[in-house]
Amino acid sequence: MDFRWDEDWDPRWTPRIPEFAAVANAVSLLMPTVEPSVARAVSACSANCEEGLHTQADWWVRQELQHSRQHRRLNLRLLENYPLLRFVQRFATRVYRWVDSRSVDFRISFAAGSEAVAYSCARWTEAHLSLLDGADLHTRQAFLWHLAEEVEHKNVAFDVWQSQRRSRFRLAVATALAMLILAGFTTLGFFTILATDRQVLRPRVWLNLTRWTFSYIINELPNIASSALPGHHPSQFVDPLFFETVLDSWDMQPADLP
Ligand SMILES: [Fe+2]
Ligand SMILES: [Fe+2]
Repeated sequence: MDFRWDEDWDPRWTPRIPEFAAVANAVSLLMPTVEPSVARAVSACSANCEEGLHTQADWWVRQELQHSRQHRRLNLRLLENYPLLRFVQRFATRVYRWVDSRSVDFRISFAAGSEAVAYSCARWTEAHLSLLDGADLHTRQAFLWHLAEEVEHKNVAFDVWQSQRRSRFRLAVATALAMLILAGFTTLGFFTILATDRQVLRPRVWLNLTRWTFSYIINELPNIASSALPGHHPSQFVDPLFFETVLDSWDMQPADLP
């Protein structure tokens, strides 16, 4: 993958609902911090895995690092448009450094939990694709590609966690923490973007944010919680078919994309 964003790229790339681009951009800002952190955790554990899982973990690490590379390019443009995001980025880096300093048991649980959250974001997006109507096709494809790969590799970090016979309680705590940290920094980034755009006081922004948050809590929180229950495996979730189509149709012309 080699996504590039020109200097004249519009960070409000979902012109119909610009606040949705602000949410996606706030998530993008965190990816070069989150993904290398979880990749390090999986790498640290995968050496002890049997050969098949070790190979899958290597492939998983490469995918995550590729995601973070692409987001880093997008973030360069974001930081040009919203210099205050640097403070959010620095704060997030400190928090994920703290995660990196914890025990291997905690870090692999955090990685598996982060993947459950990423998968839930993919499911939520698939159910709200109309938010991307009229969006800049290039940026839309970058996010959909990332989410499609999150669906594709949803089992790997969990399998590595499971191969080490980790505690389900620790997994539940680490998953909750992974979600809270991501949600907290996404909210912080979101309001930084909207404050710069002088859009914070618009009722529509608050209405949409409330709707999206409630819909995520109602539809995805139970799935994330069930991910930590005894006997659960991510393969028990039925994948949204749309993302398979995204990867299968990758070479199609932009206008014909799903
Ligand atoms: Fe990723
Ligand atoms: Fe992932």
